[in-house]
Amino acid sequence: MDMEIKINSLGSIHEAAKQFIAAMGDNTVFAFYGKMGAGKTTFIKAVCEELGVTDVINSPTFAIVNEYRSDETGELIY
Ligand SMILES: Nc1ncnc2c1ncn2[C@@H]1O[C@H](COP(=O)(O)OP(=O)(O)O)[C@@H](O)[C@H]1O
Ligand SMILES: [Mg+2]
Repeated sequence: MDMEIKINSLGSIHEAAKQFIAAMGDNTVFAFYGKMGAGKTTFIKAVCEELGVTDVINSPTFAIVNEYRSDETGELIY
């Protein structure tokens, strides 16, 4: 489904997050695209808050880290 949610000011971001959640349906995986500073983290934080998260919410951009261990030295490489 295509839809557009407009966020005219930060004051309405929680309203936008509610609209997004209402439109999620059965989908569980979402990709957010936008240049740095576009507002992805701010929006995802609002969505998580609307979903009941009380933890600290960080940028998802850097949340996936690959971890490797050197067989020679045992050092971890991220
Ligand atoms: N809908 C919005 N309206 C106005 N300013 C916003 C909005 N969303 C985010 N911002 C501001 O823009 C800046 C960058 O937002 P951020 O969510 O960190 O972007 P990204 O994660 O896409 O790099 C922050 O200072 C934030 O407060
Ligand atoms: Mg971000």
